[in-house]
Amino acid sequence: MAKLNLEIIILAAGVGSRMHSNVPKVLHKIAGMPLLQHVIQVAQQLNPNKIHVVYSPKLPQVKEQLSFLGVNWVEQDQQLGTGHAVQQALPHLAQDSAVLILYGDMPLILPSTLAPLINLAEKDQTQISWLTAMLETEDPTGFGRIVRSANGRPKAIIEEKDATEEEKSICEINTGICLIPAEYLHAWLPQLKNNNAQQEYYLTDLFSLAIKQRVKLNVEVTFSEEEILGVNDCFQLGKVERYFQYRQASKLLCNGLTLLDPNRFDLRGELTFGKDVIIDVNVVLEGKITIGANCYIGTNVYLRDVVIGDNVTIKSNSFIEAATIGDSCEIGPFARVRAGTKLLSHAKLGNFVEVKQTTLGAHSKVNHLSYVGDTTVGDHVNIGAGTITCNYDGVNKYPTIIEDDAFIGSNTSLVAPVTIGKGATVGAGSVITENVPAHKLAVARSKQTVVEGWQRKKK
Ligand code: UD1
Ligand code: CA
Repeated sequence: MAKLNLEIIILAAGVGSRMHSNVPKVLHKIAGMPLLQHVIQVAQQLNPNKIHVVYSPKLPQVKEQLSFLGVNWVEQDQQLGTGHAVQQALPHLAQDSAVLILYGDMPLILPSTLAPLINLAEKDQTQISWLTAMLETEDPTGFGRIVRSANGRPKAIIEEKDATEEEKSICEINTGICLIPAEYLHAWLPQLKNNNAQQEYYLTDLFSLAIKQRVKLNVEVTFSEEEILGVNDCFQLGKVERYFQYRQASKLLCNGLTLLDPNRFDLRGELTFGKDVIIDVNVVLEGKITIGANCYIGTNVYLRDVVIGDNVTIKSNSFIEAATIGDSCEIGPFARVRAGTKLLSHAKLGNFVEVKQTTLGAHSKVNHLSYVGDTTVGDHVNIGAGTITCNYDGVNKYPTIIEDDAFIGSNTSLVAPVTIGKGATVGAGSVITENVPAHKLAVARSKQTVVEGWQRKKK
């Protein structure tokens, strides 16, 4: 038996006018990734010899934005229907290939649902397989209906707009997904007519054509209503996002993550986690996130591209991006940790603290209302409430160095570049413009005076 030469065509030329958006439909995102990229990833998992994406040259962003995915881009100048769209890819197909058709706006489809179609083609390369869905809860409106004869044999796919009232009551619908040997596409697509309600060349006409030509047509029925949902408007986009998120959350829960509410959890990227991690409600994770063992992520926390060690607590409403958090650190509530920040073990950031491009040494603390930027902080340093590193003179940024065991009094301004030596102390309210030597006390504020004989005015 010859090995199956699988090629996949993904249709993605539609404008998606019902999205009411300037962004082409297939570039709208699910879990932070364009719809079309989801479908291309599914296609890649099936190991085809080639993936062709049919796109519209009127929407060049689609190709530009996803060109890194290494698929073959096929132009369809005018959107004359799904049959016409597939026809554009014909010159790119190998004669002996089996062609699987997928849709750029159907991102939830799983490789496991497509596998039976491919397995059948591997056994018999002359047959056609068509994926239909039996809808029990979803509304079939908008889908093509599968018309069968009294004995259950498939007869035709009738589009909603061409259907009679009786046909509209059918709950078996066309997913659009099918696997057809290239030789039939070559033979039949040029014969398609557009004498239908939408004056389009319907790919679905190949269904009844196969029956007429007595080509073996295998109809695979799926009951997974989620997977075959397409995105045509923002309502469906929102619905598909929730399904996708719940699917991800279910996987994480099964692998031992505690999500206090799987319906209020959003992962737009990849999460790796250790044992006994608890994620509270409304947490949003983006990019690549690693969380060690025994960690707690509080309510409304946002994390992007963060590596977190073991035994870390991140309290409510903290925002952390492109940072590394060491073991046993405590952050928040209401902390902002910006790119390039590194916290060594047992470091603490409290409420209303912003840190940027800063290393905070082991056991060091910035507990309240501070801005620490471009700073290297040693171990066991205490930075008092309201401390500001003045790292920017309006043109350039300068570094601050605070060595081990230093103590910075509250409401201090550290005008960079400046170094606070090991074990040095800065008095509260100081504006420090020169280096402070190790183990010394620096105070830079006007001396308090007491005005003798002064009396408050009376009303
Ligand atoms: C199509 C099917 C319908 C099925 C439904 C599943 C046909 C005739 N109908 O209907 O039976 O139930 O999908 O969602 O096939 N596209 C192009 N170029 C075109 C036309 C469409 O690339 O010229 C792409 C669109 O971007 C879209 C997909 O093909 O991703 C489906 O096209 P659409 O017009 O939405 O077809 P439906 O009416 O939904
Ligand atoms: Ca559609």
